[in-house]
Amino acid sequence: MFQLNENYLKLPGSYLFSTIGKKVAAYSAAHPEEKVIRLGIGDVTQPLAPAIIKALHEAVEEMGHAETFHGYAPDLGYAFLRETIAKADYQDRGCRIEADEIFISDGAKSDCGNIQEIFAPESRIAVCDPVYPVYVDSNVMAGRTGEYDAQTGTWSRVIYMPCTAENGFVPQLPQETPDLIYLCVPNNPTGTALTRDQLKVWVDYANSVGAVILYDAAYEAYISRDEVPHSIFEIDGARSCAIEFRSFSKNAGFTGVRLGFTVVPKDLKSGGASAHSLWARRHGTKFNGAPYIVQKAATAVYSEEGRAQIRDQVAYYMRNAKVIYEGLKEAGYEVYGGVDAPYIWLRVPSGMTSWDFFDYLLETAHVVGTPGSGFGPSGEGYFRLTAFGNYENTQEAIGRIRALGR
Ligand code: MLT
Repeated sequence: MFQLNENYLKLPGSYLFSTIGKKVAAYSAAHPEEKVIRLGIGDVTQPLAPAIIKALHEAVEEMGHAETFHGYAPDLGYAFLRETIAKADYQDRGCRIEADEIFISDGAKSDCGNIQEIFAPESRIAVCDPVYPVYVDSNVMAGRTGEYDAQTGTWSRVIYMPCTAENGFVPQLPQETPDLIYLCVPNNPTGTALTRDQLKVWVDYANSVGAVILYDAAYEAYISRDEVPHSIFEIDGARSCAIEFRSFSKNAGFTGVRLGFTVVPKDLKSGGASAHSLWARRHGTKFNGAPYIVQKAATAVYSEEGRAQIRDQVAYYMRNAKVIYEGLKEAGYEVYGGVDAPYIWLRVPSGMTSWDFFDYLLETAHVVGTPGSGFGPSGEGYFRLTAFGNYENTQEAIGRIRALGR
């Protein structure tokens, strides 16, 4: 008789955003008269920029002619895109990253979830708490978790690094030594970021204990402060201890188009084996390359007009972030984030849990957010709102929340 992977049975019944989606669908079905405003999942709302649409049209046209048709893409990505990324995102910033260290994929979520496969099953992981659920869930699926403590909602083999208002949302170096350290900067969900000096501490630590930093930089386009690095490879020493994930979802609106990339430097080695070769082997075996059309569209992100249009889009979302941040602050909430990231993290009113506040906002203001406890035990008492809505809805949502008073 076949047996299922029991590790999957250890996971919550559904992924955080599916749970929220189901709750909101049930509420809307019961209250069809209410206009529900969704500031929950970090999904973009603005259309693709004209430069990207143009590139998509051109690539589609190419696919309609035998001479310019493209079949399977190279597993690791087309050279035209890998070279563009290496130059624009890394070399122009002074980072020593080559095109063949860039692996194109269908998005950062897949890569963040899959990367653990190239590390030993017994690897200890460390995560910030609260944390993007994919990091922990993908390790639970791989059995890297030990026992579950239902009271704290933690796994005995996972090292949780609390990030709360009390420590400025900066993770402290852990007491126990991890093998893999997940860092998301700018951070999802808290919307905060690490400065160059703060990140250097982590790079030095990882090199000293022989750990790897799995650095999720999906929100890099939202950085506004000079002291926040756009890549971990801006930090000396990162080539021997870090892997970086990037996405076209949040900077260029590709959430429904799908494209991302992962940077694995060739210096990242354990014994005689290199993470670069293992990730190339995994990619080549399990992935048949991202679509030509989409990779062509991604190159438009780096064109002069593409860059300008995308800058405007990021500014549009950051205007929403300001509306949320300032509106809630004026209403008496304790708020964080929203400066280098499109997420605002707020403390829920005392006496309520994160899920109580979720229900309260849904039922009274008809606004959807994300309960902080869904991101980990240290997220309890907090709540996340996204700036990815449209401007008018964002203003209306904050107006409704303010009208509730505190
Ligand atoms: C979020 O809301 O946290 C994001 O949409 C998740 C993601 O990018 O996968």
